[in-house]
Amino acid sequence: MNIFLIGFRGTGKTTIGKLLAQRLDKEFIDTDEYLEQKQGKTIKDLFREGGEPLFRDIEAQTIAEVCRPDNRVIATGGGVILREENVRRLRKNGIIILLDADADTLYKRIHDNAQTQQKRPSLTSLNAYEEIEYLLAYRRPLYDRIADFVINTASLSKHDAVNKILSFLHTYVKDLRKG
Ligand code: S3P
Repeated sequence: MNIFLIGFRGTGKTTIGKLLAQRLDKEFIDTDEYLEQKQGKTIKDLFREGGEPLFRDIEAQTIAEVCRPDNRVIATGGGVILREENVRRLRKNGIIILLDADADTLYKRIHDNAQTQQKRPSLTSLNAYEEIEYLLAYRRPLYDRIADFVINTASLSKHDAVNKILSFLHTYVKDLRKG
């Protein structure tokens, strides 16, 4: 069983995913890091070369590749839900956990993160805060519609977030056995 973490930039997918993988003794993959290593380029380089469409094509290939083996915890990029083929693959190949938080929290986390410059090129011509508000409003229904479990990480420590996910998985797997 794969566990996919989805959600907006700054919701904690990588941090929580690493810890969750350790606790479950599963392999951890971050699709952004995986694709940067494979391409030998940063996400910013890919945006510079071919804009968002090139990045989304490579992201979709990456999702297809990383889903194939089972038993991983996979942190996805914030825009993974924008392509229907990704959504189908996630649904087919694992359990989907949505990490959510409010715009103020996300702005602060994104702003304070050293990797933002390289990993998070602008996606609109809006300023950073407005971009978060605008994209969150657009994407929230897309995240919600595929989530098996939602957790708000705004005021949770990474350990508390992982414990919540683990107790959900415990119940979910028991239900799966009953069904
Ligand atoms: C993106 C989020 C980024 C990365 C790329 C596009 C998005 O990943 O995939 O910059 O569209 O929200 P994180 O969610 O890990 O920051």
